[in-house]
Amino acid sequence: AKEPVRVLVTGAAGQIGYALVPMIARGVMLGTDQPVILHMLDIPPAAEALNGVKMELVDAAFPLLKGVVATTDAVEACTGVNIAVMVGGFPRKEGMERKDVMSKNVSIYKAQASALEQHAAPNCKVLVVANPANTNALILKEFAPSIPAKNITCLTRLDHNRALGQISEKLNVQVSDVKNVIIWGNHSSSQYPDVNHATVNTAAGEKPVRELVKDDAWLNGEFITTVQQRGAAIIKARKLSSALSAASSACDHIRDWVLGTPEGTWVSMGVYSDGSYNVPAGLIYSFPVTCRNGEWTIVQGLSIDEFSRKKLDLTAEELSEEKALAYSCLS
Ligand code: NAI
Repeated sequence: AKEPVRVLVTGAAGQIGYALVPMIARGVMLGTDQPVILHMLDIPPAAEALNGVKMELVDAAFPLLKGVVATTDAVEACTGVNIAVMVGGFPRKEGMERKDVMSKNVSIYKAQASALEQHAAPNCKVLVVANPANTNALILKEFAPSIPAKNITCLTRLDHNRALGQISEKLNVQVSDVKNVIIWGNHSSSQYPDVNHATVNTAAGEKPVRELVKDDAWLNGEFITTVQQRGAAIIKARKLSSALSAASSACDHIRDWVLGTPEGTWVSMGVYSDGSYNVPAGLIYSFPVTCRNGEWTIVQGLSIDEFSRKKLDLTAEELSEEKALAYSCLS
């Protein structure tokens, strides 16, 4: 039998946490033959709710779940973890300045970076979900210098999956037949959902999405804004964040990273930029990646037209500004 993998979920008493931990315990993230031990972290005001989640995990009697650590102590939570899914953070509240929200999250991610660096298992893989996701991941990377930069990522898979969903609805095809959309840049409304290389598996073989949709105005307009603003649309409808789809996409992100992407398919991940596609190095930026043997690689050589170039640059500019704002909170 396989050794259990220790998976940390921070913010585990929150909305996404509640959707995510049962998926992990059922093998959605790491496979149905992989036992797991869940580490759940939240803050003292949420301790009772966190304990309630632990009670439910026990009650669900998941065969793969070999243990549960529920704690408000970051060191205890981080000790020995192989995978860390960082969902905990400080949300923007009405009337708050951007800088104040950034400052709260910078101090959270700085502290948790140290706890992970000192106590996580070697080669721990980190996925930051909490917003501002790219910049939280960058702060985590800066304050955990002994964790390789390639191990620190942020979630844009939800946006990627939203783009697949929109194309599948538009063409009335199965979502599993659509692939290779790209989310470039920030997990914010400046992101660029790109379909220029996306294809659909049809009875007549693989066809470009642009050829099938035959509606460039929609692809260059409403499609992009729908994906960019989908999070806000869900909040408006549910009065709560898109917890189900965020949790499911977080599982997709880790599963593909650990177990690999299918041949001929790429996914979007927020990763540390090496300057590919003339994106400034040193940002956490969403790129198309393939994964093999537990490592991601940015897909190279895709053509970028003028329309796309502007959008790649715009979202990079926003990330550079966020980075500067985050650094200004440190001093
Ligand atoms: P929520 O407010 O229901 O849960 C957040 C949890 O984090 C709360 O239980 C809170 O007590 C906890 N928390 C706060 N500070 C913490 C700390 N220092 N350490 C550990 N836990 C801490 O929020 P929800 O809906 O679960 O969303 C979580 C985050 O995910 C938000 O930042 C949200 O904006 C983001 N998000 C990101 C998405 C993505 O695609 N990247 C999609 C949807 C949401």
